[in-house]
Amino acid sequence: MRIEVLPDAAAIGRRAADLVAAELGSGGLHALGVATGSSPSPLYLSLCERTLPGWQDVQVFALDEYVGLGSGHPQSYRSVIDREVAGPLGIPAEQVHVPDGDATDLVAACSSYERVLAEQGGVDVQILGIGVTGHIGFNEPGSCFASRTREVRLTEQTRTDNARFFATVDDVPRSALTQGIATIAQARRHVLVARGAHKAAAVRAALEGEVTTACPASALQRFPDVTVLLDPAAASGLVRHRVQV
Ligand code: F6R
Repeated sequence: MRIEVLPDAAAIGRRAADLVAAELGSGGLHALGVATGSSPSPLYLSLCERTLPGWQDVQVFALDEYVGLGSGHPQSYRSVIDREVAGPLGIPAEQVHVPDGDATDLVAACSSYERVLAEQGGVDVQILGIGVTGHIGFNEPGSCFASRTREVRLTEQTRTDNARFFATVDDVPRSALTQGIATIAQARRHVLVARGAHKAAAVRAALEGEVTTACPASALQRFPDVTVLLDPAAASGLVRHRVQV
């Protein structure tokens, strides 16, 4: 695992974009796994500012989607990915894959998502954020490391944290479909981005704590190729990893 501390959001975005662009340039990016939320936005912005050839052939896989929000809702993860990633990069709509949180049969929707992922040969580069609860995707504490795509109940902490994207916390869906930890683990490489003092405890637990389902992101310690990009506040709890700013 490589941990880099960068001065601010823009620097993290540029560095993450460098990593993704290098994969695209070398022909190694058939499928990009995308997180949504605040953390990766500067990365997507930085990618969109570069005119890189090859995006029209890339598949995009979302980590998760709210259940019952409606894919046309501006805060559905499908809408966010269309707006921030696929649209600006010119990736055709049929190459953007998001779990179907509107399906009447959610179990079938999850199986179908896993099937499409497998058919496409899996994700090459997976972008991850981390929740205050230590979640990756929406794998909240207690999520099994063998978990696959499924419906999960969001913690009240996560619903409160994500209320900033909605009019009130009551508008935040109570559950989501998320890739499981085992699904996420199958990506060839992972890039985790985190900013802010409110993430410091989760970052420390994930990177330096015991590998335990109590902190789902601690599973990253077992992934073979992980790059972690932090701002100084998010890195402030680290003890073992002495990182230079
Ligand atoms: C969203 C996702 C989540 C977020 C996490 C951090 O697709 O997978 O794990 O990455 O909740 O969200 P932000 O970046 O908004 O703090």
